[in-house]
Amino acid sequence: MIATAIRGAARLPAAALFVSLGLGAASAQEIDLDVPYVPTPARVVDKMLELATVKEGDVVIDLGSGDGRIAIAAAKRGARAYGVDINPVRVKEAVENAQKEGVAERATFREQNLFDTNITQAQVITMYLLPSVNRDLRPRLLDLTPGTRVVSHAFDMGDWLPDERAVVDGKNVYFWKVPAKVDGRWAVEHGGDTVNLILTQTYQRLSGTADMGGKNSPVEGSLDGDLVTLSFGEGEARRELRGRVNGSTLEPIAGSSAGSWTARRG
Ligand SMILES: C[S@@+](CC[C@H](N)C(=O)[O-])C[C@H]1O[C@@H](n2cnc3c(N)ncnc32)[C@H](O)[C@@H]1O
Repeated sequence: MIATAIRGAARLPAAALFVSLGLGAASAQEIDLDVPYVPTPARVVDKMLELATVKEGDVVIDLGSGDGRIAIAAAKRGARAYGVDINPVRVKEAVENAQKEGVAERATFREQNLFDTNITQAQVITMYLLPSVNRDLRPRLLDLTPGTRVVSHAFDMGDWLPDERAVVDGKNVYFWKVPAKVDGRWAVEHGGDTVNLILTQTYQRLSGTADMGGKNSPVEGSLDGDLVTLSFGEGEARRELRGRVNGSTLEPIAGSSAGSWTARRG
């Protein structure tokens, strides 16, 4: 219901939107909202922060922070939380709410367009926006540090499929981890042999080919932030590699079936 209300409302001018939501038109007239204000229910906020495993020390940014509820809940979990909203009425409310809840030191709010907000320092991005806004933000999200967690109420990210999805009281919550970029050629050294991989990346999914001494084998794989899992080869030559991307190398971690190996771009 909320999703439908937002989609319909977003086509209206901001002032009409505010009237339709019973919020008064006066302050809205000059504000060019990309998304109308509809708050996320408390149980959905909890699920968003749970899926994103928000914890002490995380930097959380809520894009379009409304009355501040997501950032305030994140601050209560020990995070340093920032909210940006283009509407000064919402920012004032959020600041007051953070004070009332005793987390004003850890939950701060700024009047700012979310598209002008520097999000590069975030470990967690939270959003309740619109499909078109999510799509516009997607390239910037994909450029964040691998492993950055992104959680969205109601709206997905198109063909960047979520790593997890939950439904709370009929509302969708989507979770993604920003995948490292591993597209291209890699050389895996293993047991004196070199396997040349060509990886094709579609967000957190990997495919491609492995040249194993002149014999080509399909590669399957996935990314969990900067953690890469790859498998290729058949029968006794079957290999499963698990490694962490570190610049132009993959550093093996426990769980590889191949014993000792190294991999570098090239
Ligand atoms: C659907 S509400 C979500 C509020 C809050 N995050 C929550 O989930 O309860 C969207 C918020 O985005 C704000 N907003 C709309 N366009 C924006 C923009 N370009 N930059 C920053 N905030 C914007 C609105 O004022 C509104 O408060």
